[in-house]
Amino acid sequence: MALTVKPLSERFGAEISGVDISQPLDEATKQEIRDLQNRWGVTVWRDTGLDDASHVAFSRLFGHVELSPTHGKAPRFSEPELFDATNIDRDGSIIDNPNRRLINAGNRLWHIDSSYMDVRSKEAALLCHEAPPISAPTWFADARSAYDDLPQAMKDRIGGLTARHCYFYSRMKAGYPTNEEELDAMPHAHQPVVLDHRWSGRKTLYLGNHARDIVGMSREQGRALIEELNDWITQDKYLISVEYQAGDMSIWDNLAVMHRAGEYDDTLYRRDMRRTTIREPGVEAADDHFTTMFASSFRRAEA
Ligand SMILES: [Fe+2]
Repeated sequence: MALTVKPLSERFGAEISGVDISQPLDEATKQEIRDLQNRWGVTVWRDTGLDDASHVAFSRLFGHVELSPTHGKAPRFSEPELFDATNIDRDGSIIDNPNRRLINAGNRLWHIDSSYMDVRSKEAALLCHEAPPISAPTWFADARSAYDDLPQAMKDRIGGLTARHCYFYSRMKAGYPTNEEELDAMPHAHQPVVLDHRWSGRKTLYLGNHARDIVGMSREQGRALIEELNDWITQDKYLISVEYQAGDMSIWDNLAVMHRAGEYDDTLYRRDMRRTTIREPGVEAADDHFTTMFASSFRRAEA
């Protein structure tokens, strides 16, 4: 099936149409979608007709769909794979717990989903169920092109470096009440600063605001380098934004782009977004490791 591809910028991001993804797909179409995703980094699908079950079913074409962390509660949605990206409580009201709002505010910093986990995520598929009546986009940054454009001296400098990523570091930066000593006791993941995106033969910068330190550098030096590279990746020329109406979906490749939630007044407007998370192919791991990871570190946020 020939899909229609409408680029959203010269080098990354494309709106895809021409197939009903709420229905089962043949293998050739699945491969075409995987190829487009690896080529463009971000794909956008309008008026998908997806519900919770078909959202998860479609996501499986990319690989293993992770279970969402339960935080000690029953799954919120009919499908246990759906991550809650809403600002809506289980009783249907807008979340007003200040700590939970600060946790959500961390998503407005540039980041890579799951970079704080040893088991990386590749695609994330974010489906809009209810959009606010105002602009509330997702922003994306083209980390592969940002790498391509780096001066050779910087490529040489960062080629073998490793960063330590911590979920609560980004939350602290967004204002969540914690400190460096508390963060030291939280789980960290070690990730290469420059990552091979083997599905496109390109390299990407794997940083964002979960990146806390560079291994082998002082905290001050490491943070300065992380900030310099995050600023480089998020220059205007590498950015696109995607707006949603109910039924629209964006899929991004965490191993090729960074992203952040756009600003909007989340105390006034409901925004119901649900996300699937696909594990990096070829990586073996126990299932439900998000629940394991958050079991020790998330309880305070829910208090
Ligand atoms: Fe995210």
